[in-house]
Amino acid sequence: MSTSKQFDVVVIGGGPGGYIAAIRAAQLGFNVACVDEWANAKGGPAPGGTCTNVGCIPSKALLQSSEHFEHAGHAFKEHGIEVSGLSLNLPQMLKRKETIVKQNNDGILFLFKKNKVSFFHGRGAFAGAAEGGYTVNVTGPSTETLQAKHVVIATGSNARQLPGAEFDEKLILSNTGALAIDAVPAKLGVIGAGVIGLEMGSVWRRVGADVTVLEGLPTFLGAVDEQIAKEAHKLFTKQGLKISLGCKIGAITKGDNNVTVEYADSTGAAQTAVFDKLIISIGRVPNTIGLGAEAVGLALDERGFIAVDDDCKTNLPNVWAVGDVVRGPMLAHKAEEEGVAVAERIAGQHGHVNFNTVPWVIYTSPEIAWVGRTEQQLKADGVAYKAGTFPFMANGRARALGDTSGMVKFLADATTDEILGVHIVGPMASELISEAVVAMEFRASSEDIARICHAHPSLSEATKEAALAVDKRSLNF
Ligand code: FAD
Ligand code: NAI
Repeated sequence: MSTSKQFDVVVIGGGPGGYIAAIRAAQLGFNVACVDEWANAKGGPAPGGTCTNVGCIPSKALLQSSEHFEHAGHAFKEHGIEVSGLSLNLPQMLKRKETIVKQNNDGILFLFKKNKVSFFHGRGAFAGAAEGGYTVNVTGPSTETLQAKHVVIATGSNARQLPGAEFDEKLILSNTGALAIDAVPAKLGVIGAGVIGLEMGSVWRRVGADVTVLEGLPTFLGAVDEQIAKEAHKLFTKQGLKISLGCKIGAITKGDNNVTVEYADSTGAAQTAVFDKLIISIGRVPNTIGLGAEAVGLALDERGFIAVDDDCKTNLPNVWAVGDVVRGPMLAHKAEEEGVAVAERIAGQHGHVNFNTVPWVIYTSPEIAWVGRTEQQLKADGVAYKAGTFPFMANGRARALGDTSGMVKFLADATTDEILGVHIVGPMASELISEAVVAMEFRASSEDIARICHAHPSLSEATKEAALAVDKRSLNF
């Protein structure tokens, strides 16, 4: 039976943007509800959104497992560890991933209880504007009518379809299917050499698939610093990922057990490739369908995202939107920061997100991580800069690890020495980048990092050395 409940804040969407906004708003003393429609295999609630269910968390679980498998097969030998009878138990690998996802779903439900956030499992949609707020209808496992003074929309995104090649999650896979392939495909095709294509391509290559990645653009990882992207391309190719740039995808035809992709390669020559499975990872589109935007006159921008200003305010009073459903990078930590900032703004505080210091990480091996501007951006912006690089080859800890690929690169203002960008391809780049983020938040100079004592032996010494290299003073290279 339907009831009407009053809240200060109703958050629609329980991904990293939504559930964090709900918790922060509750911490600030508001009466908060969070509505999320994601269901697990048994139809129960599975808050955490794309990130927890079919994104960040399961992909990192499979990346870790597949990396262990690859190391056991090759890298251990160099350490004097002989492994015989190595075999892959893919069902167990997938089960482990599902367990980790469930732990995260349960963790969020626990956090809602702890913070007294009311959770509703179902789809939330605007039913109209009411006196002093909005009516949000919940349909699905929960059926409720909620009254809210403030609404935070955090409905996220879903995989972009390639026209003529609809996802069936059996042969043509989005991220959802790519994380749940139940037998290693002999030949795996990937369209789009972006973050998902490279991470998922790496997982399945490591466990034995022959992986071909077809990318539309002529440049590899165009948003990444050119020097770093070039190094990464070289390393991935050496690992066996077949990356073809400048491809124009034509017809995609499904057979009983395979998919045929016709495309023109970078020379314009017609090619035909047959794959056992095809992942399409060509970007993501915002989730706004079924939200009832039209019932309240919520404005979208020209690309279909919810239109917001710098403070995540929509065109409607007291309606906010955060995360993948608004402009900016589609990253879980960006969504979270916006969620916190919006909750604080609702409370009259001055929440702030610094877009200049949002780190990016691609969890390949080696990892790629960066913050700030690339060398090509600085050139395009006409900024005079100094660059310093340091290879992991010259780092003792990297040698001990047996992972010496890649480098750390610093870019600093030529006059003031302020750090403008830090770019890493190499072991544990995802962890190393945090030092650069902190430094840039505090507007540090490369000299500041160069003068800080870093533990020896550690990968972070490569960061210090790259900072020293800005003034051509590296000590170990
Ligand atoms: P989402 O996480 O998409 O959550 C939105 C939620 O709202 C979903 O649960 C959805 O079901 C629900 N919803 C939608 N509409 C309604 C409605 N009307 N009513 C109720 N509920 C609704 N980012 C990183 O930073 N690091 C990574 O390592 C990383 N890895 C990724 C790997 C993959 C394979 C993918 C696909 C993405 C990855 N991302 C990663 C991106 C990250 O997942 C997103 O940026 C993040 O999830 C966005 O959070 P969000 O809260 O905006 O939306
Ligand atoms: P993406 O934007 O990273 O990459 C898409 C790639 O597909 C681009 O290189 C693009 O040029 C190419 N492309 C687009 N249309 C094409 C076409 N018709 N033919 C061939 N190539 C085409 O998008 P992706 O990989 O789908 O991931 C979506 C987003 O999810 C990422 O941008 C990122 O924000 C997020 N994500 C983040 C991760 C992380 O932080 N580690 C991991 C995975 C996803």
